[in-house]
Amino acid sequence: MEFSIKSGSPEKQRSACVVVGVFESRRLTLAAELLDKAAGGYIGDIVRRGDMEGKSGTTLLLHKVPGTLCDRVLLVGLGKEKDFREKEFTQAIRAAIKALHETGALDASIFLTELAVKKHDIAWRIRQTVIAARDATYRFEQFKSKKDENRRSLRRLTLGVERRNELAQAEEALIQGQAIAAGMALAKDLGNLPANVCNPAYLASRAQALADELGLECEILERADMEKLGMNALLSVANGARQPPKLIVLGYRGARINDKPLVLIGKGITFDSGGISLKPGADMDEMKYDMCGAASVLGALAAAARMKLSLNLKAIIPASENMPGGNASRPGDIVTSLSGQTIEILNTDAEGRLLLCDALSYAERFDPDTVIDVATLTGACAVALGGVASGLFANRDNLARDLIAAGDEAHDRVWHLPLWDDYQELLKSPFADMANVGGRWAGAVTAACFLSRFAKKFDWAHLDIAGTAWKSGKDKGATGRPVALLAHYLLQRAGKLN
Ligand code: BES
Ligand code: ZN
Ligand code: MN
Repeated sequence: MEFSIKSGSPEKQRSACVVVGVFESRRLTLAAELLDKAAGGYIGDIVRRGDMEGKSGTTLLLHKVPGTLCDRVLLVGLGKEKDFREKEFTQAIRAAIKALHETGALDASIFLTELAVKKHDIAWRIRQTVIAARDATYRFEQFKSKKDENRRSLRRLTLGVERRNELAQAEEALIQGQAIAAGMALAKDLGNLPANVCNPAYLASRAQALADELGLECEILERADMEKLGMNALLSVANGARQPPKLIVLGYRGARINDKPLVLIGKGITFDSGGISLKPGADMDEMKYDMCGAASVLGALAAAARMKLSLNLKAIIPASENMPGGNASRPGDIVTSLSGQTIEILNTDAEGRLLLCDALSYAERFDPDTVIDVATLTGACAVALGGVASGLFANRDNLARDLIAAGDEAHDRVWHLPLWDDYQELLKSPFADMANVGGRWAGAVTAACFLSRFAKKFDWAHLDIAGTAWKSGKDKGATGRPVALLAHYLLQRAGKLN
């Protein structure tokens, strides 16, 4: 879908469909009122008769509205005016896009972007509109012999801006929204790909392709390189797999050479069978999503590059399968991580932290300003927070605060969980410096505590996205989270958010 910005009145749009909002209790929005005036009260009449009551999520398509230049008018219910917030705004956009897709309209002008949303400016409305529109129309049909073609009718969407002096800001936000939406689509595609296609080598090739496209630095470390470095924790995960592991390192330079980089690390387990600590069979197919951390880091980096943020960034993606082969790690095995700390592997299904701990140590060489790792790390986090919030852990409170704010702004929210020392006790091992699991309780916290032991040398945050990176059930699929959160954090770090 193509997007553009325009300031102008709705009755003068020549597009195939003009989209305006109606509040509950029949209050027309400004754009709807302008149309109504041009149409001699035609819309007001329809609303008064009760055919469009303004309930949130409802739509009504009108043809040949007199006094207008467009073929159709789509009325979108917005709910009660006093309750109109960010959630209602996004819902209205989604309802509009869904309804537009069911019409024959190839292009539309949407005036919902003119509506005031508490605490948010025009830039937010434009970004969120683009993100919601692309999210609502996303399909993963690569492996379908018959594509669902008629749903692709809408090609162009013009976003209305009320005041001309908002145009410049809106144009910049449009680029941001498109960059973030593209990053999310990439993350969804990679997440949805089956593990027989999306293996570590495939992830590396997609990273390389992205680097070529966007002018990023890209380096792929092979097993032998990792052996030389001593990344034995990471390698212990790959031992059971036929597919060789890869360590993908990408770089984006948008700031001066001596500005310390922000480092994003993404868990890239392309399939998590559990290894020798084999997972139960039910829903095991969903473990193809265990590389969504990696996918979201790629998506966020791509977004930052397309937004041309003045930041220096690195992405580190440890990629491997977790399989139960003859050479797989056994429960009880002890490995020496890149940091020198030894780990007793009590459960081979707690493999994410083994990859990530070596990636965290590897990050030290970049002398990072901040390190954020993103991982589908624990079922416990999904149990605690469900699909609403990602788990957030940080060794600096101001970093946690910034990420919470970015998540709120992006509506890709996180909830701060503790890293208190009391929990570290649970990782004690009689034989090594630590065990890789902390037992039954507080699983998301003990996993984060484990990682914190490898993140002492920099400001660090960890996002557990096990509950938020994909949806189960009949509409199962990757969500593209937390690309929007990361992108908004980077926007904020680059001074691009108010
Ligand atoms: N990839 C899983 C976490 C996961 C589970 C994500 C369910 C999404 C849905 C991770 O590698 C894992 O298996 N974690 C274990 C840790 C346990 C062995 C301490 C878990 O959560 O059960
Ligand atoms: Zn896993
Ligand atoms: Mn696992």
